Amino acid sequence: MQQSMKPSEKLEQVEIKVKVRRFNQERGQYWQEYKLVVDRFTQMTEVLRRIKSEQDPTLAYRASCHMAVCGSCAMKLNNEPRLACKTLALDLVRKYNTNEIVVEPMDFFKVEKDLIVDMEDFYSRMYKVKPRLYPAKEVVENKAEQRLTPEDQKELWKFAQCIWCGLCVSSCPAVRIDKEFLGPAAHAKGYRFLADPRDTLYEERLKVLIDSSWRCTYCYQCFNVCPRDVEPVTTIKKTRAHTKFLKQKSEVAETGEKHVKAIFESIRNTGKLEEAKVYLTTYGLVTSIRDMLYTMRNGKTQLALIKEKKVNEIGQIQKLMGEKE
Ligand code: SF4
Ligand code: SF4
Ligand code: FES
Repeated sequence: MQQSMKPSEKLEQVEIKVKVRRFNQERGQYWQEYKLVVDRFTQMTEVLRRIKSEQDPTLAYRASCHMAVCGSCAMKLNNEPRLACKTLALDLVRKYNTNEIVVEPMDFFKVEKDLIVDMEDFYSRMYKVKPRLYPAKEVVENKAEQRLTPEDQKELWKFAQCIWCGLCVSSCPAVRIDKEFLGPAAHAKGYRFLADPRDTLYEERLKVLIDSSWRCTYCYQCFNVCPRDVEPVTTIKKTRAHTKFLKQKSEVAETGEKHVKAIFESIRNTGKLEEAKVYLTTYGLVTSIRDMLYTMRNGKTQLALIKEKKVNEIGQIQKLMGEKE
């Protein structure tokens, strides 16, 4: 039986204005606007394809699969890092309550032309973590078979869904300020193999991943923008848990471990985060005195020295932390 369409499902046609931030070597950066009619099926890659084929063959952008698999159409749409093929034009019109859609290349990467960026930096981050499985010799020689258990598969599946689009790296604040940080996508890929019981490079992967994992600021931007729900920040947390297995740790990793321990102790003892004490335990006396002078110069010493009272039912918290019965 044929079902009748609800009024909201009727084919709605809307004229949109697409404002593209363009760039080429000869002209530099400039904005260009295009108008076209879209309906509820029109993906943003289709918008760009129609502009290029019907209005302006000079517009440069990347897209291939049109189904959120190849990772090539990453860009900024109304300032949001998104896959163009996974974004319907009318969804943007409704969300921002305007028929104007602003299209820009991804942040962080160098723009080559219009919406195309140089992904070299992204790929070099990915290759640093050796992004493939290195199985045992017997498996390679076809003398043995090693299968994943359903539990292992469950742990790895989410993190294996990365399509190398670069959106997480383009919006990560830590990669911009810290050259030693590998970035969210490389961590997702690195952990996917670190946690794979069939892989043979565990020690080597620890050396590559642990120091970098402590350089993430936990802002969750990568979690928010990933079009495949990979949750790179979750892989960074999980990687940090392997720090204890690394024999020679960097100063950054050691400080990170101290910080986690200090927070744990503070909550166990008082039920609260005693900022000053946590800072002192993490960074030691000399650094703390130096930073205290900084807070004095900026009139913030009283904030650093707030003394927290223990919560009343501290036993309950300790019980939750598995400390006491
Ligand atoms: S949570 Fe970490 S990896 Fe993710 S965007 Fe923020 S700093 Fe980058
Ligand atoms: S983790 Fe997500 S956002 Fe980052 S490159 Fe992979 S698919 Fe893209
Ligand atoms: S075109 Fe392949 S992910 Fe968008």
